[in-house]
Amino acid sequence: MDQKTKKLQKLKQKQAKGKTLSKEERTEKKKLHADFKKKIETLNFGNLKPEEDYTDEEKQHVAALSSKLEQEYTQKKVTEEGHPNCPTGQAGKAMLTRMNESHGPLTQWGLSQLDFGRKDHVLDIGCGGGACLARLSKLVQSGTFVGIDYAKTSVEATKQFNQSLIEEGKLQVYEASVSEMPFDNETFDKIVTVESYYFWPDFESDMQEVFRVLKKGGHFLLIAEIYNQADLSNEVRENIQKYKMRNLNLDQFVEVFEQTGFSDIGLHVKPHQRWIAVEGVKA
Ligand SMILES: C[S@@+](CC[C@H](N)C(=O)[O-])C[C@H]1O[C@@H](n2cnc3c(N)ncnc32)[C@H](O)[C@@H]1O
Repeated sequence: MDQKTKKLQKLKQKQAKGKTLSKEERTEKKKLHADFKKKIETLNFGNLKPEEDYTDEEKQHVAALSSKLEQEYTQKKVTEEGHPNCPTGQAGKAMLTRMNESHGPLTQWGLSQLDFGRKDHVLDIGCGGGACLARLSKLVQSGTFVGIDYAKTSVEATKQFNQSLIEEGKLQVYEASVSEMPFDNETFDKIVTVESYYFWPDFESDMQEVFRVLKKGGHFLLIAEIYNQADLSNEVRENIQKYKMRNLNLDQFVEVFEQTGFSDIGLHVKPHQRWIAVEGVKA
């Protein structure tokens, strides 16, 4: 409900309790009521008559309509803030906390496909809530880590989640896009990305950027919960559309990895979960 409608209701409630409205309040109520009628009119509600003359059915209809509008507004805000493409605000923060949990098994399985060196310098692209970096720090005990994410909310969440790693000087986190990473050529031994490639703006050129910052002999691992295959459920397909996600099939993954210049391309799939981890080496 918007502020004006709230105020109007407040004044009406006051009257309903038998209290007298001041002259200013009466004028305000009249104006608010006129505004409310206009709002209904723009919603194409139909025949206009003073609200006082509404039948019970019409009153219920108006109440339902305004509650629906309010719900739609709230839902839109949650969807925008909690959009996995770029989490923002409170809803985004809550979603990152959920993803830290829900992506745990996928991340664990994906990372187990790669042989890490004891002292690897590892980059996580689209680090979200930061749980993958925490996992990496346990897998690569003498390693050093960098996380990037173009969403400020994700960068803050990752820093908060991994405060001790940052204090120990083992982790740096940057607000940056995969399309233009603030690193020299051949910086990292390993680069991973979990549930993020779906949203990269230009996959072919972003992969070139990944290739650029990877050391010779280094490995890139892309982990995703879904890939394009015949038996994806309608619900998953709807979400892919809703969030405008990239959804490659196995051949397309191999094609892009090859075009980028990767060799020893490995496709790991976990059939029942339909998870995928695609690995490439910079020879
Ligand atoms: C679905 S979340 C996954 C987060 C985390 N990797 C996980 O598995 O829980 C996708 C993340 O990728 C980030 N992202 C999307 N496009 C990006 C881009 N172009 N550059 C950097 N990060 C990006 C989003 O901001 C978001 O934090």
